[in-house]
Amino acid sequence: MDADQIDHDLESILLTEEQIRTRVAELAAEIERDYEGQDLLLVGVLKGAVMVMADLARALSRHVEMDWMAVSSYGSGTRSSGVVRILKDLDTDLTGRHVLVVEDIVDTGLTLSWLASNLKSRGPESVEICTMLRKPDAIKTDIPVKYVGFDIPNEFVVGYGLDYAERYRNLRSIGTLAPHVYSRS
Ligand code: XMP
Ligand code: MG
Repeated sequence: MDADQIDHDLESILLTEEQIRTRVAELAAEIERDYEGQDLLLVGVLKGAVMVMADLARALSRHVEMDWMAVSSYGSGTRSSGVVRILKDLDTDLTGRHVLVVEDIVDTGLTLSWLASNLKSRGPESVEICTMLRKPDAIKTDIPVKYVGFDIPNEFVVGYGLDYAERYRNLRSIGTLAPHVYSRS
């Protein structure tokens, strides 16, 4: 296994770098319109949101602040349970702030649902959510996601911040992994 064969590990590319860039620019334009004249705090959820946060923030031609949270979701296997622990909290006081949570993916929505109510309890002016990807399961949780990059099928995807065993976060595209990746671990 070569460290430089990262692209070879993908079975299919779901979203290209170009598609992602175009969509991020569209989301940024929407966000600029919606928050015109208001302060804005982007809250990125580590680690998956690192890429979308970096690209979205730079696509905005206005002042923003950025802060980060890390949470771990207890679940059985790959399903999240909605029981969340804060591993790294914000440095920012949210009182009176307009908060936009930036996420890589909303799957069941349980993690985000917990996070949104946690943030809302801190006295912000508003809390909205922006996610690069959303899976169909998310429809079952009534968590309102204001900005969605792409709705994708119910498959495990990697790239653009999303990992499998901490790898593939640095892929510029988003795709599914080839079976040989799973079988060698
Ligand atoms: P929820 O609570 O919405 O959890 O079910 C979302 C979290 O689950 C992880 N997740 C994925 N990670 N590829 C990944 O690399 C995927 O296809 C995927 N689906 C869910 C991710 O950590 C996300 O924050
Ligand atoms: Mg995440």
